Amino acid sequence: LPRDLFAPERKNSTGVEFGHADSLAALRAEIAAAPAFIDAAPLIDGLAVKGRSRDVLSPIDGRKVGSIVECDEANVTAMMAAASAGFASWNATSVDVRAAALERAADLIEDNRGRLTALLQSEGGKTIDDCMSEVREAADFCRYYAARALNDFAPKTLPGPTGESNQLRHCGRGVFVCISPWNFPLAIFIGQIAAALVAGNSVVAKPAEQTPLIAFETVKLLHGAGVPATALHLAPGDGKVGAWLTGHAAVAGVAFTGSTEVARLINRALAAKDGPIVPLIAETGGINAMIVDATALPEQVTDDVVMSAFRSAGQRCSALRLLCVQDDVADKILTMIEGAVRELRIGDPRDLATHVGPVIDKEAKDKLDRWIDTMASHDALRFRGDAGPAGGTFVAPAMIELERASDLKEEVFGPVLHVVRWRANELDTLLSDIAGNGYGLTLGIHSRIDAMIDRIAARLANGNVYVNRNMIGAVVGSQPFGGNGLSGTGPKAGGPNYLSRFALEQVLTVNI
Ligand code: SER
Repeated sequence: LPRDLFAPERKNSTGVEFGHADSLAALRAEIAAAPAFIDAAPLIDGLAVKGRSRDVLSPIDGRKVGSIVECDEANVTAMMAAASAGFASWNATSVDVRAAALERAADLIEDNRGRLTALLQSEGGKTIDDCMSEVREAADFCRYYAARALNDFAPKTLPGPTGESNQLRHCGRGVFVCISPWNFPLAIFIGQIAAALVAGNSVVAKPAEQTPLIAFETVKLLHGAGVPATALHLAPGDGKVGAWLTGHAAVAGVAFTGSTEVARLINRALAAKDGPIVPLIAETGGINAMIVDATALPEQVTDDVVMSAFRSAGQRCSALRLLCVQDDVADKILTMIEGAVRELRIGDPRDLATHVGPVIDKEAKDKLDRWIDTMASHDALRFRGDAGPAGGTFVAPAMIELERASDLKEEVFGPVLHVVRWRANELDTLLSDIAGNGYGLTLGIHSRIDAMIDRIAARLANGNVYVNRNMIGAVVGSQPFGGNGLSGTGPKAGGPNYLSRFALEQVLTVNI
């Protein structure tokens, strides 16, 4: 493979073989040794801001797992000033030094997998499987962006007329604000930061309100890996903090992953500012469909649907929301899927036997329960599973049957699968209905007919199309991730074009 596309000297992180008793016991011992409680706070130049804290509660059982001091407006002002001051020296550091810090961060992530897993579970409610994938993805982002930066940001001599030399160089833009979601509080959090840092920017990172503890630990880990505390600052808090940051005069770029609605607010705030035009890299939601035709293999469809819709309690932006099954095979396939969903075990994600853990918080649970109740009142509920243990924010996995794909108008971010049936002569209408929602993140296709696959993929401009497999868990460097339309601005995370958006380009032409 060409070096400039895939940076092949890098290898993706390997995980833990859960079937291997010794490996599992070692991981469990590391998880058990992790602190049970973390006091976190904003970090300005590496110093924790003092102030009133609030409790951080676990979605598993509501117990206190930490405390967080959130930023006030004065903290944000001080942090942006510190990040502006920290930019010049970090930007002047060679790309080799910046990449080496990310390499060390990847090693530290792997060395601290137990500690990070403990936090992903207690604060994020994630299953052990999901934690391991996330730890690996976080390390992969660091190594991938390090390798890419060494390749992409090395000065390049360009061809030109005799008597002149042309050199393309890159440097950081300034202070990058990175705003990340709770559903990948380690991998997406560090992925944005790593990309911004390796390009030479200083960073102010604003984690999701629900997951500040893992963000605090991750920023300290990056400082330990050699990222200067003056170049990376942490701004925990709610949407007000995000608004103060993106409205600040010193912001030179924003990386945001979250809802389309908030991406629009940020875009408007940036557009309203005086001074340079500030780029926004947004990765937002999706109403992700899977289209299954009559040639699909029912067992494989069942497996892939359950994985895509219910793994991570459906809380992935890539997750399947709308299953579209050809009428001829729908009864059989839907019966098989319902049977498989009935087998899912809902419960404490620290238990290896659990398939579906809690959703992130009570607000999310209440919203999902309300949606399922509404669908039940319209006679659209096909099945609702076990509600899970009391005390945590569990949502019973549900299957909802709709008349048309266009009936699903918003992203339902949880373990809820919507289903529609289509007849062979209705495929164009189905594709128009799906395209009509305006999103374009993931798309699944199950078919054994190449012409069918091509027809669907050509009609729907989704960023990630998965054929005859599940549609989650994009692999860094192999499946660059991100959507089109209402799903985001691009460029794709974990792909060859991501870093350049974080950098400024300069061409030096010298008459020799
Ligand atoms: N990158 C994640 C996935 O592919 C995001 O949801 O599942």
